Amino acid sequence: KSIGSGYASGKIILMGEHSVVYGEPAIAFPFSGTGIQATIQANDLESWIESSFFHGPLSKAPNTMRNVTVLLWYLVKHFKIPEPFYLKIDSSIPAERGMGSSAAVAVAITRAVFDWMEEAATQEKVLHFVNQAEAVAHGNPSGIDATTISGTEPILYQKGIGFRPFQLNMDAFLVVADTGVKGQTRKAVKDIAKLMEMRPYETNKQMRSLGKLTAQAQQAILKNRPQILGDCMNQAQGLLRLLGTSNSHLDHLIQTALENQALGAKLTGGGRGGCMIALAENETSGRRLQRILLDAGARNTWIEGLGVYAHV
Ligand code: MEV
Repeated sequence: KSIGSGYASGKIILMGEHSVVYGEPAIAFPFSGTGIQATIQANDLESWIESSFFHGPLSKAPNTMRNVTVLLWYLVKHFKIPEPFYLKIDSSIPAERGMGSSAAVAVAITRAVFDWMEEAATQEKVLHFVNQAEAVAHGNPSGIDATTISGTEPILYQKGIGFRPFQLNMDAFLVVADTGVKGQTRKAVKDIAKLMEMRPYETNKQMRSLGKLTAQAQQAILKNRPQILGDCMNQAQGLLRLLGTSNSHLDHLIQTALENQALGAKLTGGGRGGCMIALAENETSGRRLQRILLDAGARNTWIEGLGVYAHV
């Protein structure tokens, strides 16, 4: 095959970021509002990366792309890929905003290479490579980003145990808003690890509370009770703030959403910037929230009907 191509969407964590690193359950889904397309083909002189972030020879890729270079190293070794190659990456996922851009770039590239080598890219095989890249990008990833993005459905995920598909089917709409400020997942995860060392009793308790809120949210979704899900989101945000993962940009958009009829609102993903999510009762109030959040300074917003998974 002369050219290989692969696509991956972004992801949204509805409940359970950070506590998922400590073994608590989390709910996440692939987010079709954003995505990454990768294509790979032979090149003449040297292996080359073409992306909005960096374009140039693979050998000169910056350290911040180590997740990609490490992944390519594994893929070259495994597939004996003919070098040099030309890799093009097109992304509509804002980088470092809690939407899983690092896992998505790894999934898209891995799928492109599998396609090029004409091997079926099962989720298990893709994950094998992507997890190596994520370990480099994140330090101590729970694996939720890679698992969500390499799949096709919402999941309930627990580190070390695995995942199961989860029907995220409820009469409500989720609004996603990007603060426009880069999040710092790696740093936030590290700082929580420090809290865990310094104040193990209190921090563990907060993690367990977050886990309980995820379980309550799961029940609320099963029973189609958006109001209760909204409450769970608000309580989770309170705990995430105590853990130091929110910041003023997130707090401002979350507050704005709550003042404008959101049933609940919280950060999503690593935090310290990045994206927030707000639960809206119906599409009209969701669209209204989108406009209000944009006026309040959000860089971009998206809306997703939670009922869309009903017939998947
Ligand atoms: C990042 O999308 C989610 C975190 O829980 C980190 C992880 O699970 O690896 C913050």
